[in-house]
Amino acid sequence: MKAFRDVVNYRRAVRKYDKDYAYDADVVTQALELATLAPNSSNMQLWEFHRVRSPEMLEKMKECCLGQNAAKTANELIVFVTAPQKWRQRAEMNAKVIRNAFASKPNTPEHVFAYYEKDMPFLYGGEGLIEYKGLDGEAGQELRRNDVRVILNKSAALAAMTFMYALAEKEYDSCPMEGFEENEIKSILNLTKEAEVCMVVSCGKRLPEGVYGPRLRVDLSDVVKEH
Ligand SMILES: Cc1cc2nc3c(=O)[nH]c(=O)nc-3n(C[C@H](O)[C@H](O)[C@H](O)COP(=O)(O)O)c2cc1C
Repeated sequence: MKAFRDVVNYRRAVRKYDKDYAYDADVVTQALELATLAPNSSNMQLWEFHRVRSPEMLEKMKECCLGQNAAKTANELIVFVTAPQKWRQRAEMNAKVIRNAFASKPNTPEHVFAYYEKDMPFLYGGEGLIEYKGLDGEAGQELRRNDVRVILNKSAALAAMTFMYALAEKEYDSCPMEGFEENEIKSILNLTKEAEVCMVVSCGKRLPEGVYGPRLRVDLSDVVKEH
């Protein structure tokens, strides 16, 4: 097994892939499986990973990625998408697990079940909403929706990161992208109105010139703060 340090050091944002490499799509399949193990908010798993592989769809998607080099020569593009519309199913799935776990304990206090049965419907569906962070009506709803967007994008980004490290462990390469036409992507992938494209990740095997120069990072002292 590779040391995690080596995996992290291997991963670079790659903008040119080797079209002649004997690319194995199963490596991506396995990396996507690992991506589902990423930590995610309340284990709601409100994400979808759209795999774009057919030549026709790849052509369209590359245009949606503004013709960027990072997309142009990729074997596949994975679109990490948030899926708020699935909140009820996910809340019920979690609630059921908790109900089952406490089935033999009749005196379990209600607050144990409230998280998935009341709090999640409140957060994701606005159910039972009276005020949100002190704001009534539309303003509270808007703030709630924006908080949900941030929550979902954090989790989807962690899945994308897990995916990229899983590829790197197999010496496959990737580039995360936020330069894209979101509405175009939503239209060609048939996404629901509520869904958001968190990131598009291109995949393939790097060419040496696909890495644009040595890694550049600021000094650790500028980043790590002790308290
Ligand atoms: C959220 C996010 C969005 C990014 N968007 C793009 C992009 O649209 N196009 C691109 O070429 N690189 C993109 N990158 C790659 C970064 O430029 C790259 O990670 C950064 O320069 C550091 O280089 P390294 O990943 O090789 O360490 C993105 C990275 C992240 C995390």
